Amino acid sequence: MTMLQGRASELDEANPLRHCRERFLLPEGTTYLDGNSLGALPAAVPAAMQDAVHRQWGTGLIGSWFAEDAAWWGLPQRLGDRIGTLLGAAAGQTVVGDSTSVQIFNTLTAAARLRPHRRVLLTDAGHFPTDAYLADSVGEMLGLEVRRVTPRELRAALTEDVAVVAFPAVDFATGECWDIPGLTAAAHEVGALVVWDLCHAAGAFELALDAWNVDFAVGCTYKYLSGGPGAPAFVYAAGRHHATMRQPLTGWTGHADPFAMRGTYEAADGIGRARIGTPTVLSMLALEAAIGAFDDVDLATLRAQSLSLTGFFIECCDELLDGRGFETVTPREPERRGSQVTLRHPEAVKLVPAAAERGVVGDKREPDLLRYGFNALYNTHADALRAATVLAELTA
Ligand SMILES: Cc1ncc(COP(=O)(O)O)c(C=O)c1O
Repeated sequence: MTMLQGRASELDEANPLRHCRERFLLPEGTTYLDGNSLGALPAAVPAAMQDAVHRQWGTGLIGSWFAEDAAWWGLPQRLGDRIGTLLGAAAGQTVVGDSTSVQIFNTLTAAARLRPHRRVLLTDAGHFPTDAYLADSVGEMLGLEVRRVTPRELRAALTEDVAVVAFPAVDFATGECWDIPGLTAAAHEVGALVVWDLCHAAGAFELALDAWNVDFAVGCTYKYLSGGPGAPAFVYAAGRHHATMRQPLTGWTGHADPFAMRGTYEAADGIGRARIGTPTVLSMLALEAAIGAFDDVDLATLRAQSLSLTGFFIECCDELLDGRGFETVTPREPERRGSQVTLRHPEAVKLVPAAAERGVVGDKREPDLLRYGFNALYNTHADALRAATVLAELTA
């Protein structure tokens, strides 16, 4: 046994979350390190889907919208509150529904409308494409100038003209994690509002949206929350904005009295106004079952394990990939890492599928990045070592 193998098994033995791996159905022989794109299948989901289809839909039919043992109508807020516990958000501020892109559009617009006399929308120069495109679209619609700056440049770019600052918690390409409370406070000093994209943060590490005074946040549920392909997004709006925020997508389920079928929109009280159309019930029921994997999981422990996994992977890469053309892009300082490690290599585009053929699944970002995401609920230090070993074999 090599030193790295010995350390991997020691660390895995000592992992207080090791029982959580059984909460997922992972294919035998696969080292799955792409949960930052699509989380693995939680073991509770197949039975929940069976119940959703046969009992709730097949037998309960339309009655399931309000029946106590299905209660579909309440899913957006019920799930929102559950996810809120992972975001550090008190109940009544988070809703689940639609896609991240839709929620970004709705939320950026709502935030900008709360600062009507300001003319600038600041967004991350390296933001995920959908965030960048939607910032441009909202800018055009509301007549705002969209300026692209990196989170590192934010302080210098903040002026009294800035209405909204829209950043990701973690850079999707590099895995760098930004200082949410510090950047939120800086934006507030000039009176701007913040919209955080938590796609790569929710379920990956601890968040404290209420304590950090965050205004708005959006995120997907198909990565670290393992809600399944196309799982709905969530949106958080701090309670202090509920009475005045106005989203552009004024769908009927966000109406104060949706079943009165009135001809004009009147927003529901509270976070209910962030609902749009009919909830995607089957996806939401899968997500509800998936989130059970977080029951009794302490998020500080989850963060410690995630850092242990990414740190150990970097260590394995340093030792096994030295001199083979790799560079570690993700910061080495633990507080600057999300839950993924990005490597750079000129042959990345070939290496990622070649590693997948040998059972190590990650993903690539052209032209030269390899991304390996670690979910501390199911990944192990042995997975990290295997991934580095396979990359070493492929570049020998
Ligand atoms: C930061 C970020 N925002 C948004 C998205 C995707 O948005 P949507 O769920 O609408 O496809 C992703 C997907 O990887 C992402 O990483």
